[in-house]
Amino acid sequence: MFSIFFRPCGFLALSLTVLLTGCIKKNAGDQTEAANRTELLFGEYGSMTGPESTFGISTHKGIIMAVEEANSTGGVKGKKIRVISYDDQGRPDEAVTTVTKLITQDRVSLILGEVASSRSIAAGAIAQQYKIPMISPSSTNPKVTEIGEYIFRVCFIDPFQGSVMAKFAMESLKYKTAAILRDVKADYSVGLANFFASDFTKRGGTVVADLSYSNGDVDFKAQLTAIKGKKPEVLFIPGYYTEVGLIAKQAKEMNYKGVLLGGDGWDSEKLTEIGGDAIVGGYFSNHYSHEDKNPVVQNFVTRYKSKFGEVPNGLAAMGYDAAIVAIDAAKRSADLSSKGLRDAIANTKNFQGVTGIITINDERNAIKPAVVLKVAGNNLYQYVTTINP
Ligand code: PHE
Repeated sequence: MFSIFFRPCGFLALSLTVLLTGCIKKNAGDQTEAANRTELLFGEYGSMTGPESTFGISTHKGIIMAVEEANSTGGVKGKKIRVISYDDQGRPDEAVTTVTKLITQDRVSLILGEVASSRSIAAGAIAQQYKIPMISPSSTNPKVTEIGEYIFRVCFIDPFQGSVMAKFAMESLKYKTAAILRDVKADYSVGLANFFASDFTKRGGTVVADLSYSNGDVDFKAQLTAIKGKKPEVLFIPGYYTEVGLIAKQAKEMNYKGVLLGGDGWDSEKLTEIGGDAIVGGYFSNHYSHEDKNPVVQNFVTRYKSKFGEVPNGLAAMGYDAAIVAIDAAKRSADLSSKGLRDAIANTKNFQGVTGIITINDERNAIKPAVVLKVAGNNLYQYVTTINP
């Protein structure tokens, strides 16, 4: 038994992962191992397929662009960065599997991902266990970074995002009654629904109906019938684009006349493809607008368009920012060990990202403004306003 424990982590470590957890823990991201490497390895996991595939694909494009730009100017401490990317199919169990593989087999120094909070929560626990730093580009549920000191994000969190849409509904649209339709299978949706409800109520509004569905559902008529009966002026749907598009369509078919509101989970070119006319006129909060006049944003939009032939959405911008924060931290770090990288990420201050100025606070979150966008049809999202924390 002891002889196994003292063997170097190699073939045995892969076949006896459970027994040798201690061994892997000690050496993955180890200082000597990091120094001896000719390249800096980043891992990425995301939903490249499945009902949230555009999240993974857009984020991946942003990450790749950031890494290519960094490599073209010499990389980090004389090393080129290489990204190993896995598709988790939009499933928390696959997220856990891919992150375990990135750490124990590919032996990456740092992990970028996920977008959806439930998957970041599931896989973040693994990154924390092995002490490999993870930066989520855009998971907004508070629980993600509460996992531990190796888990970071470069976006705002949902208590803020919920208050942004409650404030917008009350102060800009002047509505006082709302219904909520939440996805009970997504931590993101449940959290955001709760934060919206408490802020809307605090401001003097009334939540007249609060109903739920599960990720993957396709028929929402029963919930919409109940909602319509309460005549809410707005319907808040803090879900992901596939279900949101279907809900919008069915609400229109049922002749619901209120305004549809949502959060960053709406951000996809598929939203208008699925929702068609029914989603036009809806508003959602997001991390960035490509219409922002800031030269940093316009410069990014131009480079992205020439590389991919499309306008970058918020996910691409957040993927890019997560990667440039990681690269900047690696440049500043004492060494490229996981501890060295972790400490440098934690020290990120006033860093200029595409989505705003990023300072990582003591809770390992970023405090940033949100934008509200209006769905104008056919993958067009107009900038409406910016709301500061
Ligand atoms: N914030 C969402 C979550 O935590 C994910 C998301 C971010 C979706 C940005 C779209 C755009 O699950």
